[in-house]
Amino acid sequence: MTERIAVIPGDGIGREVVPAALSVLDALALEFEYVEGEAGDELREETGEALPRETYELAEAADATLFGAAGETAADVILPLREAVGSFVNVRPARAYPGVDALRPETDLVFLRENTEGVYSGHENRLSEDLSTLTRVVTTSASERLAEFACEYVERGGHDGFTVAHKANVMRETDGRFREAVLSVADERGVEAEEVLMDAFATHVCLDPEGFGVVVCPNLAGDVLSDLAAGLVGGLGLLPSANVGEENGLFEPVHGTAPDIAGEGRANPTAAILSAALMLSHLGYEAEAERVESAMTGVLSDGPRTPDLGGDAGTEDVTEAVVSRL
Ligand code: NAI
Ligand code: MG
Repeated sequence: MTERIAVIPGDGIGREVVPAALSVLDALALEFEYVEGEAGDELREETGEALPRETYELAEAADATLFGAAGETAADVILPLREAVGSFVNVRPARAYPGVDALRPETDLVFLRENTEGVYSGHENRLSEDLSTLTRVVTTSASERLAEFACEYVERGGHDGFTVAHKANVMRETDGRFREAVLSVADERGVEAEEVLMDAFATHVCLDPEGFGVVVCPNLAGDVLSDLAAGLVGGLGLLPSANVGEENGLFEPVHGTAPDIAGEGRANPTAAILSAALMLSHLGYEAEAERVESAMTGVLSDGPRTPDLGGDAGTEDVTEAVVSRL
């Protein structure tokens, strides 16, 4: 069956790493049909709109979407796109790879980040010259849905259980609700769940990353803590992500547009290539996903490497090395 893939490179290095991921997918010679959509800062400059209706509908109708990054318009682009594909969880693996100089080479984490609410629900108000407010939204239904996903994820992956990170000692109502919903689903399903206060987690994970595996988080905490984990394993160029939920999915690197290196051809394509591997796995192409992951980890181990990993290779050199292993 032909899979229809929406491809939305966006801005900055999104336009360098998404083509890299596509070259890797091409090497697998699968029956994929790619349809490109526009979004981001540059499009807004040209047309006044960061995310046109066509691009939203493209993602909504596609079997899967591969996204790069958007700059200042990120919130206007990625939040609606995650909604377009019906995603309620953002899966963010953060793993140290052999050959990559990592602060904590023993790190092997997966963040399951709530993807629809929390402080990212967009309810901000300017009430006066001096005062702005934000309404944080937490529902039992979204928290339970995330917990169900987490239980299935740990069962499928053979993990011991998961850790839920929250701050229910201070945000008693919102994180209290989140904590209770997640722990009660785990209890019903007989899945082991530990809890940790998210600020303490930030310290513990740096000192002892092996103490954690699957980490379930509210939206903002998952965003921040996964970037922290990127620092433990060698940088943002390495972290892929899968926005999944009902059926469809959107796959994107955790990093942004990297304006400091955009246009120079030296962005690390690893995060985008591993995002494509997550997409393959989501579409049921498990063997192909493993082949891509193993070719990518082989290149991380033996080189060539981009400057963020201490090498002097360009995006294309790394991509070609992955393709030639395939
Ligand atoms: P960033 O992830 O773009 O860059 C942070 C640092 O990591 C930079 O020094 C960059 O050079 C480096 N880096 C990131 N990806 C890399 C890669 N593949 N290879 C080598 N080095 C890499 O985050 P920053 O600077 O905070 O944000 C830049 C722009 O990106 C902002 O406009 C922000 O709104 C947007 N952004 C968009 C996201 C999205 O579309 N999902 C996510 C995060 C940020
Ligand atoms: Mg982020």
